[in-house]
Amino acid sequence: MSLTLPNAIGSTDANRTDDPFFEAIWRDTESEATGYLVIDRLVRGISSGGLRMRAGCTLNEVRGLARGMTLKEAIHFEEGAHYVPLGGAKGGIDFDPYHPDADSVLRRYLEAMAPLIEQRWNMGEDFGIRQDAVDAALAEIGVESSVQAAHRVIDDAAAAAARMKTAFTTVVDGVSLDELVGGYGVAEAALAAMARQGLDPAASRAVVQGFGSMGGATARYLAKAGVRIVGIADVHGVVANPNGLDVEKLLLTRDATGGVDRTQLADGDTKLSSSQWLSIGAEVLIPAATSYCIDDSNQAEVRAALVVEAANMPITPSAEESLVARGVVVSPDFVANSATNAWWWWVFFGDIDGSAEPSFQKISNRMRALSDQMFDYADRHGISARAAAFALASDKLTELTRQFPTY
Ligand SMILES: NC(=O)c1ccc[n+]([C@@H]2O[C@H](COP(=O)([O-])OP(=O)(O)OC[C@H]3O[C@@H](n4cnc5c(N)ncnc54)[C@H](O)[C@@H]3O)[C@@H](O)[C@H]2O)c1
Repeated sequence: MSLTLPNAIGSTDANRTDDPFFEAIWRDTESEATGYLVIDRLVRGISSGGLRMRAGCTLNEVRGLARGMTLKEAIHFEEGAHYVPLGGAKGGIDFDPYHPDADSVLRRYLEAMAPLIEQRWNMGEDFGIRQDAVDAALAEIGVESSVQAAHRVIDDAAAAAARMKTAFTTVVDGVSLDELVGGYGVAEAALAAMARQGLDPAASRAVVQGFGSMGGATARYLAKAGVRIVGIADVHGVVANPNGLDVEKLLLTRDATGGVDRTQLADGDTKLSSSQWLSIGAEVLIPAATSYCIDDSNQAEVRAALVVEAANMPITPSAEESLVARGVVVSPDFVANSATNAWWWWVFFGDIDGSAEPSFQKISNRMRALSDQMFDYADRHGISARAAAFALASDKLTELTRQFPTY
């Protein structure tokens, strides 16, 4: 088996084994929207990966994201665990998520994909999509749940449902647990990487682009660890404060799309334009919004020593090459942001009960262990963290595929 990295899919040297398992293109009859579903791999007949909506979303982007999901699943393969990683998949809709018709476009896309959601594709929210909108649309269509396909491989569905209910009704300091776990994992990955680089949290600053599920929770848990959050970007621009922003206060001002209420900024907070997000001095940079936001045109502006990818594919391959060449460490998406996905399955399959404390404990243990394995491997072989994580995930995928069938 030979796979290319997610951000390299579509490269000319890709061979047959590198092709995704299944691809579908959907064209909306009522709007200009086009949607995609890519199932990169199946394990035991099922796959996992969220659905995103953004104007300009392409099939190639969805392919890369689906490949990333395959790696994100496989890297969490642990002998003896209840959770057997699934294949990777991803959905994408090329449509403006802020458009008033966004929910009806989402509903029609889900209706078209319903048979796959029931049988093969376990899905959930991703960029530009809210889980409650997915759940409401699926209920209307008559699909029981966005992870219905996984019920095909579970013995005790009632126990799984009880654990999921605990997980999805738990609230921690005003924010739902399911909106915290992913960013908590990113923060743990960042703290593990900072320890390797000798960066003391209490003496370090971070800038976070994106203040939705991922960015919001990453900012919260880095701030709790003592890191000063000196800049937060949302779709409207950047808020900054060299002495540190009041993350907890800002979290509770967010609208449903992760926008900060500018009327509630503190004295000393300043407003900057979107393009200024890289101009703020910080040791740690967390892209937690869009794909491809760091490319050849702006990579030279990156001043941080460490970039931790909360977003999927935020850095283009050539920009990353330049960053790594000048010593910037990049903790890659399929490790750093893998906690949301893994957490869902740890709860669903019964490795944890869905309450807050065991959830945070499990995520912390796994993110720190994976980060250490990745950096050890990178040091041993003199390669980037992404290449090291890719080697580790590929090995686990080979073992997973050996032990478990496609169907
Ligand atoms: N939600 C998850 O569980 C999860 C898991 C893994 C990876 N991701 C990835 O993390 C990223 C963010 O996902 P999310 O679920 O937090 O999204 P979200 O929709 O909850 O929040 C997105 C945030 O990004 C901001 N934003 C949008 N466009 C922007 C722009 N051009 N510049 C600056 N900020 C902008 C929005 O204002 C909002 O604060 C995506 O790349 C997604 O694929 C999400």
